[in-house]
Amino acid sequence: MKRTPAFSFVVALLVAVIASCARGPATPGSGASAFPLLAATPPMGFNTWNRFGCNVSDTLVRGMADAMVSSGMKDAGYQYVVIDDCWQVDRDSTGRIVADPERFPNGIKALADYVHEQGLKFGIYTDAGTKTCQGRPGSYGHEDQDARTYAEWGVDYVKVDWCYADSLNAPERYTIVRDAFRKSGRPLVLSICEWGQNDPWEWADTVGQLWRTTGDIYDGWQSVLWIADANNEHQAVAGPGHWNDPDMLEVGNGGMTLDEYRAHFSLWATMAAPLMAGNDLRHMSDDIRDILTNGEVIAVDQDSLGIQGRVVLDRGYGVQVWAKPLADGGAAVTVFNQRADSARAYVRWADVGLENGPATVRDLWAHQDLGVHDDTGVFADRLRVRVPGHGVVMLRITPAR
Ligand code: GLA
Repeated sequence: MKRTPAFSFVVALLVAVIASCARGPATPGSGASAFPLLAATPPMGFNTWNRFGCNVSDTLVRGMADAMVSSGMKDAGYQYVVIDDCWQVDRDSTGRIVADPERFPNGIKALADYVHEQGLKFGIYTDAGTKTCQGRPGSYGHEDQDARTYAEWGVDYVKVDWCYADSLNAPERYTIVRDAFRKSGRPLVLSICEWGQNDPWEWADTVGQLWRTTGDIYDGWQSVLWIADANNEHQAVAGPGHWNDPDMLEVGNGGMTLDEYRAHFSLWATMAAPLMAGNDLRHMSDDIRDILTNGEVIAVDQDSLGIQGRVVLDRGYGVQVWAKPLADGGAAVTVFNQRADSARAYVRWADVGLENGPATVRDLWAHQDLGVHDDTGVFADRLRVRVPGHGVVMLRITPAR
């Protein structure tokens, strides 16, 4: 039998369903069954690292929570406000983690309360090794104590890094962190950050809700190209509650053009990636805000089927067709032009996992219906698009009923 892309998608879907049945509801003895499924769709929020590095403070985080609401990002689905490295300075005589008293004079609980008052969720950062990547105290040997502290503070999401962990076993250490979170009595999303060094796609789906697949992103086109390519390799293991994480967004940080940022955001959405903004939400241009709040693109990322889209066709001249099956029976299609000059490409239903036949086609950046065609026209089985250099055309194709 000829193995068409449509067939491959059905197989991928069946594999995902069987795998999630085999995984079972929760690990025995973990108490996790008391909690709802965490991260049923990829987490969305803001993280301080890409733009602010160690320059974090109570004022900054409150400002980001305010801006998340006033910019429309909260309404678009962004939820988590996450402080990355450098909020912590020490442990006290009982071993309890201590926040920087100058930068966080009100303490972390008051900050978490403030974020919650804005209708948002609060996240924090630690490391499974002895120190964080910036040399602050890590959680090694303090997993239970830290999880209890986070629960007391009202933390909802924890990114757990992997510096100062050379001699440690990643699946083992992250499982200890997971179990500590479960014992804490509060649902805590576990964001695993070991950069894909220990093949997390083979074990992390029963440990955390998301796991980094690559080294750190930077605000440049080559970084987007490289990370998208690497993250695409692990497409089959993603699904509701367990996501590949190609790192936080650089949209709006200044190192790429608007077309490049649209491509970055579209690829992350096509890959069902966590959408963690990494720019200064308080000072965004309208163009950047329009990218981050594009509801039609976000709907693709957040689609309830939770299938990670993948490259279905590489034209070989720098143009790729990516496709993501959607819960309504249609597909999101991202035609990605890696070249500097514009390019034309066909999207064939047969390439993107759809049956031939009339379909509605919507351009998710132009916010335009390109039409529904009857069997006599090009929309019966294909469509031709022009894609800007270093850019995308992102479509939603829905079979007409
Ligand atoms: C690592 C992580 C980054 C960030 C820094 C903080 O490099 O991969 O995302 O958290 O540490 O020090």
